[in-house]
Amino acid sequence: MSYWLIEMLNRFKSEGMTIKMQQNEIKIDFAKLQYQYQLYKREIDEAIHKVLNNSNYIMGNEVRELEENLQNFTEAKYAITCSSGTDALLLAMMALDIKAGDEVITTPFTFIATAETIALLGAKPVFVDIDEKTYNIDVSKIEEAITLKTKAIIAVSLYGQPSDLDALKKLKIKHSKLKIIIDGAQSFGATYKGKSEVHYCDIYTTSFFPAKPLGCFGDGGAVFTNNDELASKMRMLRVHGQSKRYHHKYIGLGARLDTIQAAVLNVKLNHYREDLAMRQKVAEKYNSQFKTQNSKLILPFIDEKATSAFAQYSIRVQNRDVLQLKLKERGIPTAVHYPMPLHLQECFAYLGYKKGDFPIAEKVSSEILSLPMNPYITDEEINYIVKQITNQLTNK
Ligand SMILES: Cc1ncc(COP(=O)(O)O)c(C=O)c1O
Repeated sequence: MSYWLIEMLNRFKSEGMTIKMQQNEIKIDFAKLQYQYQLYKREIDEAIHKVLNNSNYIMGNEVRELEENLQNFTEAKYAITCSSGTDALLLAMMALDIKAGDEVITTPFTFIATAETIALLGAKPVFVDIDEKTYNIDVSKIEEAITLKTKAIIAVSLYGQPSDLDALKKLKIKHSKLKIIIDGAQSFGATYKGKSEVHYCDIYTTSFFPAKPLGCFGDGGAVFTNNDELASKMRMLRVHGQSKRYHHKYIGLGARLDTIQAAVLNVKLNHYREDLAMRQKVAEKYNSQFKTQNSKLILPFIDEKATSAFAQYSIRVQNRDVLQLKLKERGIPTAVHYPMPLHLQECFAYLGYKKGDFPIAEKVSSEILSLPMNPYITDEEINYIVKQITNQLTNK
């Protein structure tokens, strides 16, 4: 192949476009991160260069600007950026003084970080099965898991959709000492009854990992709260528990967000409402195409009180692994979030759970499949993906 041809192909690839090298050979990009960079390249490069020229790499102006922008976006009283969604969970639980001897209730159907951080602080993760429609924690089953040691509940907004926050609010009224954390690593920008999830919990956490709906160019995260004391404590915990330079009120973390990442996020946040609307459009197109084709699969269910940030568009099918392989052969990348629920993970064997304890999480984890999802996926790509899946399911 000539250098020119390779260069052209690479350019197409880097622009995240569908490449048709031969007839029938299609390659689809799952998240189109490079495509997004190309879209905002001028603004992003300029913002990064400004940081380089100022050499304000740690807690530069861009970090403060981002925190203000995040507050405006969510209408939260406080947004505090940090180094990842995992550290955001640690900061939230440390601020609530969660420690050895405490129990924290959460879902077994989530990324490891949700429960790993509970265990890291010496507390005990207590799992409750999920709702079969939304795949989020089944709030109606939480009460039977509450004990005198229960300190908090972490509800995860899986794939971008909030949990049943009305039910959670009722539970909180009944058990007033319980703290509610929402792990919104996948849901930044989602709403419940028209408001950000920040307003339904003590602390909301999120992640800016590159593949998240609002992603930076490395690791990043944030915590949000409307509570003055929690905000002030989390701000200190983020910098080694420091109240003023070299004076340490708490044992804390080194968990700041880099100024360069803040600069990238300030640009992306400016376009984020549009991105979210485009993700929702993509989900609607998938839904309507699958419905027209009468495909034998379970589509995402979105509660009418909520909007989803559609971090993922995940379907459920029998023989998921076979379908995944066939789609790969046809140039369609997919992912499984998540193949093994947390109560069955080796690292949590000490908790004493066994297979069958959370049947819905176990069933969903064997059937779930995430399809390519990003704001820029084309109608042609959606049609192709839906057609290939439908053909596979009808053995065409
Ligand atoms: C539900 C959930 N919680 C926490 C995290 C951790 O975020 P990070 O990768 O930014 O540490 C993730 C990231 O995948 C996640 O999906």
